[in-house]
Amino acid sequence: MAIRLIRKVDDEILRKKCKKIDKIDKRTSVLLDDMAETMYKADGVGIAAPQVGVLRRAVVIDVGDGLIKLVNPEITSQSGEAVDVEGCLSIPNVHGEVKRPEKVTVKALNEKGEPVSINGTGLLARALCHEIDHLDGILFIDKVIRYIE
Ligand code: NI
Repeated sequence: MAIRLIRKVDDEILRKKCKKIDKIDKRTSVLLDDMAETMYKADGVGIAAPQVGVLRRAVVIDVGDGLIKLVNPEITSQSGEAVDVEGCLSIPNVHGEVKRPEKVTVKALNEKGEPVSINGTGLLARALCHEIDHLDGILFIDKVIRYIE
């Protein structure tokens, strides 16, 4: 495993749309492992592949309940609304309130290429939405209601 460089907000790669991963192979598992290591080192709760310079649809999340690695994640349903503070490893020292669904269901593939479905509420729902937005070039600052000093 290796720590990868986290791209920052002025890097245009963060604004590109990521491609689906067609085949989950060794390269994919190395990417997911490196993303996890990079996220933990930076003390984050999630990271998306474009943040380490890879334009592929992969995210890792750990909101404190264990590591989740997702390939080609898609939100299939959502409900409710919640406003809470977010930050991003690509945008250091910036925090702001963002409205997200309170609950989401996400379908994806796991690192073995098996289909998985995840139900997230609260912080997990927020992290899923934030990371999946990254795969479409969307940053939380695009959605901030109010910045927190
Ligand atoms: Ni982020």
